[in-house]
Amino acid sequence: MANTGKARAYTNIALIKYWGKKDDDLILPMNSSLSLTLDAFYTETTVHFDETLKEDQFYLNQTLQNPTQTKKTTRFLDLVRHEAGITTPAIIESTNYVPTAAGLASSASGFAALAGAASLASGLELDLQALSCLARRGSGSATRSIYGGFVEWQMGSNDLDSYGVPIDDASSWDLAMLFVVVNQKEKVISSRDGMKQTVATSPFYSGWLESTAKDLITIKEAIKEHDFQKLGETMESNGLKMHATMLGATPPFTYWEPDSIQAMQFVAELRQEGIPCYFTMDAGPNVKVLCHKSDLPKIKAKFATIFQETQLITAYPGPGIQLSKGDF
Ligand code: PMV
Repeated sequence: MANTGKARAYTNIALIKYWGKKDDDLILPMNSSLSLTLDAFYTETTVHFDETLKEDQFYLNQTLQNPTQTKKTTRFLDLVRHEAGITTPAIIESTNYVPTAAGLASSASGFAALAGAASLASGLELDLQALSCLARRGSGSATRSIYGGFVEWQMGSNDLDSYGVPIDDASSWDLAMLFVVVNQKEKVISSRDGMKQTVATSPFYSGWLESTAKDLITIKEAIKEHDFQKLGETMESNGLKMHATMLGATPPFTYWEPDSIQAMQFVAELRQEGIPCYFTMDAGPNVKVLCHKSDLPKIKAKFATIFQETQLITAYPGPGIQLSKGDF
């Protein structure tokens, strides 16, 4: 059908974090970041521009959203409409394929899929780089979900040069990521507000910027060399440094919960037992453990001593965005 576009995009987890914006409107980050796209969680979105509509209609997981819930989507579609020279409203149907009770953010896969579907439906012919720039305007982490495997988001300095770059599709590694779902409730402080507060007030922020630039170089070396220990150590230390900036903010805040700390301790214990694994955390209490596929059973067994089966979700490296005018 003309005027219709469909996209499937997978979520990603940053190994080198994006934390802080230098431009709130364009979503230009203060630092470059690097992530791994995963196969377990994705969003499928269909956008259909329809002259007979009065305004956008947004269905999320088959439920029509109210005007407040639709606002962010409409604002994003306005960028696409502006670029395509149209004013037509759209029906947007978006489904998040996230294991039930995962409590995991879907803004990365959500805005990447929306960017793909909307640009296709509007007739904009964007290459992946331009699509990555567009996805960025919805949510920073979406910039990286255009590609599979390891992806660097080069911070750039303007709307056109801040985009994701594929580094390695990760298919020649036996990598896995275990999600330890500590709490599935929506976070109290959004990443947007958390970043703002940190950049504006944390005396540790300049140290973060300095060391994250070095971490990015180190992790790219580790990917090239297939050095799992270097990859994991750099990821873990980078995540901890991001969380440390928040403790220095005014007022201070943290996303950690008691079970998050327990999970981090488990990872340290597993390493002492000779099992290589490393953790990272985002703007929430859940802990993600990077490991070799072959070590998953032992790692899961350890976590299963205090976490329930449904709190432990396994993911593997995932692919880049898929676009279609019809079905997949
Ligand atoms: O793009 P946002 O607003 O979801 O922010 C993502 C922030 C972190 O997840 C903490 C780090 C990252 O690089 O994904």
